[in-house]
Order: sequence, then C-alpha cells, then structure tokens
Amino acid sequence: IMGCYSWSKQACYSPLPHDLLKSHQLTIRTTPNSNMKILAILYQGGNAAKEEPRLLGTVENELGLREWLTSLGHEFIVSDDKEGPDSVFEKNIVDAEVLITTPFHPGYLTADLINKAKNLKICITAGVGSDHVDLNAARSRAISVLEVTGSNVVSVAEHVVMSILLLVRNFVPAHEMIERGDWQVSDIARNAFDLEGKVVGTIGAGRIGYRVLQRLVPFNVKELLYYDYNPLPEQAAKDINVRRVEKLEDFVSQCDVVTVNCPLHEGTRGLVNADLLKHFKKGAWLVNTARGAICDKDAVAAALKSGQLSGYSGDVWNVQPAPKDHVWRTMKNPLGGGNGMVPHYSGTTLDAQARYAAGTKEILENYFNGAPQTPANIIVDGGKYVTGSYGQR
Ligand code: NAI
Repeated sequence: IMGCYSWSKQACYSPLPHDLLKSHQLTIRTTPNSNMKILAILYQGGNAAKEEPRLLGTVENELGLREWLTSLGHEFIVSDDKEGPDSVFEKNIVDAEVLITTPFHPGYLTADLINKAKNLKICITAGVGSDHVDLNAARSRAISVLEVTGSNVVSVAEHVVMSILLLVRNFVPAHEMIERGDWQVSDIARNAFDLEGKVVGTIGAGRIGYRVLQRLVPFNVKELLYYDYNPLPEQAAKDINVRRVEKLEDFVSQCDVVTVNCPLHEGTRGLVNADLLKHFKKGAWLVNTARGAICDKDAVAAALKSGQLSGYSGDVWNVQPAPKDHVWRTMKNPLGGGNGMVPHYSGTTLDAQARYAAGTKEILENYFNGAPQTPANIIVDGGKYVTGSYGQR
C-alpha cells in the first residue's frame, strides 16, 4: 500500500496518470451477488440534462449505467432525494449493496445510516472526494469506499487558476459594472493587480494542488509554496521550483494567494479558521475548491468584510446545495468586490463527467467480477485507509 501511495505521488506530475493507474492493482475482497440493489444519488439535471446527454452525472442520464446494469439483472435506483428519513436515499440505503454518490450533490452517508445499511458493501464516489461518507464508520463495518481518482483533477486545477486570476484582477465587480450600464475604471482598478510577482501557495500538493502550481509557472510569480505532510518527490518539486513550508502559520504568512487542495477529514475540518486567518498577509486572496468545511464559514465572511482577505473564491460549500441565505453567496470586501463563489461545478465539466462515468463503470465491473480494483481509487478497504491523503495515520 505504501508503494502504491508513493507511486500516486509520482503520478501526480505525470502527463498521463490514467495510463499509469491501469498497471497497479490491489485486490478487494468481495462476494458479489447476481441480483444487487444499486442506489445512486445524483443531481437533478432538468431540461439541461434532457437536451445535453453528456450531462452524465444527473438523475436523468444516470451515469449512462441503466441499460448495462439492468441487462445484468441488477436493480438500479437513481434519485436526487437525499434528505430526511422519508427520502429515497434513506429508504433505500437499508438494503442496497452498492451506493453511488457524487460530491456535487452529496448523499451524506452518516454513521447512523451506515448502521442501518445492513447490506452495503461498497460506496463509489463518481468524482473525487469521499468526505460525504463517514469513512471511519465505513471502516468499522469493512465497507469499501472508492472514488474515480484523477478523473477531474485538471478540471479543478483550471478552475483554481481562473479563480485566482478573477480575484487578483478584480474581475467580477468589473463585469457587474458593465451589466449595470456603468463605466468607472478607477472603481475597479483601485483593487486590481497582476498575478506576476505574487507568492502563491497550496495547502495540499496532491494531484490537483500540483497541477495548479504547474499551471502557474508561466505567470512568473515571485514564488510557489506548498504545505503538505506528504512531501513532493524531489524531482517534481524541482521541475516547478516549489518550496515546502512545514508550519501552516509560516506558510500562510508568506502567501499573497492561498489555494486549498486537500481532502476534508478530521485534520482539515475548520483548518482555515479565525486564528489562522490572522496569520494571512493583510489583503490576501483565498481560493478553496477542495471542500467548504475546510474553511470556517463565518470566519471567512468576517475576514473578507474587514479586508483581512481581499477575496474568496470557490465552488464548494459547507452544506450542498447551499441555503439561499448562505453568507458566502453575498459576502464582499470593503470595496464591494472579492466574491468569486459559484455552485459546485469545477470538477463536473462535460469532459470530467465522461471520465468519472467511465471510471464508475470500471469500478462496478471489477466489483461484479471479483477483480482487483485500481489501488489509487481505493480510499477505504478491509477496515483500513488505503489512501495516504485523508490525514496522517
Ligand atoms: P490527492 O489525494 O491527490 O491530494 C490531496 C493532498 O492533500 C495529498 O497530498 C495529502 O497529503 C494532502 N493533505 C491531506 N491532509 C492535509 C493537511 N492536513 N494539510 C496539508 N495537506 C494535506 O487529492 P486530489 O485529487 O488533489 O483532490 C483533493 C481534494 O479536492 C479532494 O479530496 C476533493 O475534496 C477536492 N475536489 C474538488 C472537486 C470540485 O469539483 N470542487 C473535484 C475533485 C476534487
């Protein structure tokens, strides 16, 4: 397992990580039945999904799996209804053997639900990030948790680069001004900067974090930094001239831009809180496409309001869908800008959907056939964390 982990670090800067993924395998013990109940919690796609079949991650298009699964004799239940005891999710989890979820519309598989899910053997995340499953509870029941590792890491890295640029260059208020019919260059330019010459750092330098740094090299930033308990392979760090900072407070105090790219787990929930925000450079920009709950909701809103942060941008929220009155929807810096929030979509571009739908099918196929799973996809198996990314254990 350690071998697989160090390999996955290598793959994080390989141009073709998916090809490498295929060659390493680890066995998951399974006892597949022929007539399984498979439950998928996906997001409602509405008209868009009817018009655009490539929106595979929706309730309407069912990851493209229905025909295949029913031809194999399995029962396939798909819904977006996930909250409360009467929801399709909670009613069907009690006897489902396989659960498929996405981080975009997370079916929160709590310890309580795991307790009720007597037949559940495998949870598949169609995408990357399995924090919506209580991983420790899954471990104690020896339920396997897998995700489609690598499937949307480029999609997110591109979104991060875009988010950094739109904050630093003060893009959103500039566009809003144009739509309003106004034109006052100085109101925008007073808070617009170049990315060149700034220090940019990532919390988490895994597949996404490393790709973000790679993509920033041509911008001639002053320095690239990272904070991660797993150091990058020496050559990978050299290739992009990135420096590791071992103490989080030291790290943030040196960054003009901080981007969060680690999973949500016990060690990262609320990591960016009021205390840590005090160590940020005054007026820094913060981009979080990892998970909303890594950043303290109210502390971030307060830091933006006070100008301690100049901007906050991301697509992930502490609860999804975010309530209408969520403070992150409308929070602003003292100059009325600095908010780059969008719904959770950075990792669900049409390109990404094709990859995570195919990856989900591959995991299911392996499971049905009792075949080994690709190790990099395995988060929890046999009562243990197989990944090294969900905290130091
Ligand atoms: P990865 O497993 O390749 O890398 C994660 C890195 O974070 C690892 O190097 C790990 O050591 C590091 N890490 C873990 N805990 C840390 C801590 N306390 N401090 C510093 N570093 C820590 O994962 P990948 O593919 O880069 O994805 C990262 C996360 O991004 C996912 O877990 C998910 O939550 C999020 N994500 C968001 C998407 C979106 O659509 N917004 C889509 C895909 C992923």
